[in-house]
Amino acid sequence: MKIIHATDYEDMSRKAANLIAAQVTLKPNCVLGLATGSTPIGTYKGLVAKYEAGDLDFSEVSSYNLDEYRGLTGDDPQSYRYFMNDNLFDHVNIDKSRTFVPDGSNMDAEANCAAYDGLVGAAGYPDLQLLGIGNNGHIGFNEPDDHFSCGTHCVDLTESTIEANSRLFDRIEDVPRQAYTMGTQTIMFARQILVLANGEKKAQAVHDMCFGPIAPSCPASILQLHPNVVVIADDEALALCKDKLA
Ligand code: GLP
Repeated sequence: MKIIHATDYEDMSRKAANLIAAQVTLKPNCVLGLATGSTPIGTYKGLVAKYEAGDLDFSEVSSYNLDEYRGLTGDDPQSYRYFMNDNLFDHVNIDKSRTFVPDGSNMDAEANCAAYDGLVGAAGYPDLQLLGIGNNGHIGFNEPDDHFSCGTHCVDLTESTIEANSRLFDRIEDVPRQAYTMGTQTIMFARQILVLANGEKKAQAVHDMCFGPIAPSCPASILQLHPNVVVIADDEALALCKDKLA
């Protein structure tokens, strides 16, 4: 794991946008694995700015998102499909028919997840997978468990994730209780993984991801076994790693 220390959120976002831009420049028809949440918003802004400046061309890129709330349609402002359109896809020249997010409106979990795995597999898996990390160490919506997950599946969200994500909803009761998520194994198939983390709430998860035992109680810890992971984290998120990085 390569750990890059960013001073703050803006620095983290700028560094991440630069790495993703390099990927798209080096391989214009690359497959990007994309993430939602507050963490990557600044990175997406940076990518939009590069596109507007004429420095980036998304016309041949395809993308696969990690996860989606089960039961939400893509036009629901709380859905991750809406988030991606709003924060990135609507502002760059990506062909939206090549942007994929698990279909939250399909309540047939088994068929829906198998179809999504088929799509990601047929695309050859992401060249670069962008990840945030949950306060509890989740990646995508792969929550702490007694085993690591494999392919795309339907999960029951933990109370701590529902609580953390409720800040984006009017009421905590409105947060969906389930989600579809790419599995841990699918995430590990990406050729490069870029994890972003900022803020003190992520400090324990970042420590356990990088230096804890590899255990499904911290799903992100499996990334220690991936040969090409870059973590970009700010001061606060690296607070518990200081002695290890010195
Ligand atoms: C969410 C998403 C994750 C995201 C994480 C952190 O629940 N499913 O993909 O990385 O939690 O979110 P945030 O960036 O808002 O802290």
